[in-house]
Order: sequence, then C-alpha cells, then structure tokens
Amino acid sequence: IPVEPFDYVVFGGSGDLAERKLLPALYHRDRDGQIPAESRIIGASRSPVSDEDYRTFARKALEDHVGEAHLEEEAVARFLSRLHYCEVDARSDHGWDALRALLDEAGGERIRAFYLAVSPAIFGDIATHIAEKGLSNDKTRLVVEKPVGRDLDSANELNAVLGRHFREDQIFRIDHYLGKETVQNLMALRFANALYEPIWNSTHIDHVQITVAESVGLEGRVTYYDKAGALRDMVQNHILQLLCLVALEPPSAMTADALRDEKLKVLRALTPIDAGNVESRTVRGQYRAGASAGGAVKGYLEDLGSPSDTETFVAIKAEIGNWRWAGVPFYLRTGKRLTQRMSEIVVTFRSIPHSIFEASAGAVQQNQLVIRLQPDEGIRQWLMIKDPGPGGMRLRHVPLDMTFASSFSARNPDAYERLLMDVIRGNQTLFMRRDEVEAAWRWVDPILKSWEDLAMKPQGYTSGTWGPSSSIALIERDGRTWHEPE
Ligand code: BG6
Repeated sequence: IPVEPFDYVVFGGSGDLAERKLLPALYHRDRDGQIPAESRIIGASRSPVSDEDYRTFARKALEDHVGEAHLEEEAVARFLSRLHYCEVDARSDHGWDALRALLDEAGGERIRAFYLAVSPAIFGDIATHIAEKGLSNDKTRLVVEKPVGRDLDSANELNAVLGRHFREDQIFRIDHYLGKETVQNLMALRFANALYEPIWNSTHIDHVQITVAESVGLEGRVTYYDKAGALRDMVQNHILQLLCLVALEPPSAMTADALRDEKLKVLRALTPIDAGNVESRTVRGQYRAGASAGGAVKGYLEDLGSPSDTETFVAIKAEIGNWRWAGVPFYLRTGKRLTQRMSEIVVTFRSIPHSIFEASAGAVQQNQLVIRLQPDEGIRQWLMIKDPGPGGMRLRHVPLDMTFASSFSARNPDAYERLLMDVIRGNQTLFMRRDEVEAAWRWVDPILKSWEDLAMKPQGYTSGTWGPSSSIALIERDGRTWHEPE
C-alpha cells in the first residue's frame, strides 16, 4: 500500500538498534520501492556528527547488517541521500530549534514519526520536548521501544508522561516479536482455516509450550540486562504477546482495537503466581561457563564482572483461567546461552481416547502443531500415518510441512521492516496498547516480588545446555516433556 512522504526521526540514531535493525530495515523498504521520494530519515542524538559522517555510519551499518545479495550501490546511494543528522540533547534545550527548523523545511503537513531508540529514562524528556518545542503536528507518531517500565508503577508513570503530550492513537509501543512473519502466520492459521478453531480449546489441546532460546550471552548490554533479567526482558513482553496470540478469542475483525481487546482479556485471565505457588511454578537460572555457539564461553558473573542474582533463564508454568483454557498449562521458557537459537510455539493435542492398534504397530503419539519462529521459520503439523510399504501396520509420526523457505521464494523480511512502515500507515494492530502493557506487568510484578521475598536465587546452568535441570523437572512433574527441536 503506497504511503505519503514522511520524516522519520530516530533518537539514538547512531546507537546499536539503529545500526543493527532500523537503518537496515528502512533500507530494505526503500529498495523495494516502499519509501516515497521526498521522505527523510533524521538521526538524532547528543553526539556532534555531521550529515556526511552519519551517512558513513549508515553505509557501514548496511554493509554489516544487510546481506551482500541485497546491497545495490544505486539503492544504497538513494537511501543515504535521505539521511540527515541533528544534534539534540534530550535533557536540555540544545538542538530542538534546529530539529524543528529541519522538519519545517518539509512543511507542517508531513507525517512525522519519532522513534525513541534510547533509554526509557529519557522517554519523558524527549516526548515533552517534541510537544513543547512545537515539533508535533496532526500526523505525529511516537514509537517507543521496550522496556516500557520495569514494573507496574514505573510503566504507569511512563505511560502517563507519554499520555500527557500524545493521544493513545499516536503512541506505538513496539514489540518486534509481533512483526515476525510466523507470528503473523499464527493469525492466518487460526482464523483463515476452518480446521483449527473448533478444536482450539481444552477439550482437544493438552498443553502449549513457548520457547524462546538464545545462544548469545549479554552482547555488551551489561548495565541494562543486569537490572532487567529474563523475566522483564523477554517474558513480560515477547513471550506474553505470543501466549496472547495463541490463546485469544477470535476478534471480530483484524483491526487494532479488536485484536488488542482480545489480548487484554487473556492477560487479565492469567492465573496469578505469587508467594503461594512461585516455587512450584517458576524456575530461575543463570548461565555458568560452558560451550556455546561453537566455542568456550564465560559465565554470567564473569561477563558481568561482579556478583549478581539476575536471572538469564526463566521457565514458568502459566495457566489461563477461562472457559477455553482451564486446565491447559502453558509452559514458557527463555534463556541466554542455551544450546541453540530457537524459538517455537508447540501446541500438543490430547491423546486419542482408545487405540485400536496392536503394540507391534508402535506407540500412537500425540498430534503436535509446531510453529517455528526462528531460525528456520515455518509451521509443521505432526500426524500419525501408516509407514508406507508391505510391512504390515506400523505407525509413524510425520510432519505436514509448511516450511516457508521451501514453499515460498520471497525474502523473509525482518520484523522491523513491517513495523516501521505500519507506524507510517498509522496501523497499530501489531503494537501494544497501554492497558496491555499494564496488564502484563500486573501478572509479572507478583512473580518478581515473591522471588525477592522468598530469596529465590537463580540456579546455575552450564552454557550450551537447555537451562537448569529444575526446568526439565517443572514439566516432567506433569508427565510431559519439553519439545526436542527437530
Ligand atoms: C530483545 C531482548 O527484545 O529481544 C534481547 O531485549 C533479545 O535480550 C532479543 O536478545 C531477541 O530478539 P530476536 O528477534 O533476536 O529473537
């Protein structure tokens, strides 16, 4: 869908996110002809950088983060010519008039998107300056990166500051997991097929697993990560969003509020985890030295250089207290320095009520739907069939494979590509509404508090494994096992 010309101002324009994700994503959109001719991308931060230096920085970012096959000199040159840089200090008046003058060059009617790829500590300062220095117009959108707060109170505070200057329909709280191709596909699978929805409930589904495993460690984000930990960094946002999309009732339309209303109901229906059940429902872990991503790696405390009780792994047995999901556990786990980078949602259906086959046919396994987010995106429905051939009745578990790489030849766009353009289109469907973020914190806060009250320290796990053994016990206690990646 063609969009109007726009100006994208990226605060933190020379930071890590801009370098790794935002500039490459905008380049791809531009190369695909999605960015109108006069549009500009304006990097903004405190460092004194000229337009030329910023273009040099961006060229390097593209060389490092866009595959060689997609780097075309003509497209790169066109993209770089859109870039500008403005030195702005969030905490003082410095630079704001210059930024306004730059924006005004394009007239007051142009779409202005302000992307806050900076520490949340200065979200409020930036939002206030944008409003008070007259940078905002009717077509302003404000994009904020996670974390939105570090608990319910700070999230409320932050949302209140943003809400003081911007309407909710101008605020785009990004959760890049919602822009992932397979996550979108989950919606198509559930609501564009007649097959799944009638059996998408506790009568037919035994349990759900959501794993977001990473092989990387801290990646230089020491200060942020040690204050956050896996529960705040991954569960409060990405994993709960995935859980919502699996569990929500069919929205009446694929519109922002219809979808977000249904997600909110799921978040509010999550059974509380507090001091009474936190020990049996959650596992905290912290990586120790080991081998990961092909080499020996240090432990978390050595990476950090100081003692810490921050968890780099968490596993949770969650439950949703409503008619559809009563009694269906949602096992969630995420961690750094695990065996491999692998994210998937696994829906396991109930066992057949009665087997008519002889023991020699082999075990009848439960049907599983595996939605693989990364690395090799795709959806597989595992079914039992008869082993082909004359050898009598032998049962086999095989996948109906909807792996995207083999079915479709198109390049799989990064989540940010879609989300950055949704901002311009003013489409909030894949962004978190204020009440959702707050409902997620309302569930997470008592877990954090009871870990602290009960002094539940993280258990060590060797890098390159699937986390502490108690994570395996968490699910095996219920007679189930974590899905082995295929
Ligand atoms: C971010 C977290 O939101 O998501 C990081 O802050 C994590 O800690 C990252 O590494 C994972 O994203 P992806 O897209 O690589 O799975």
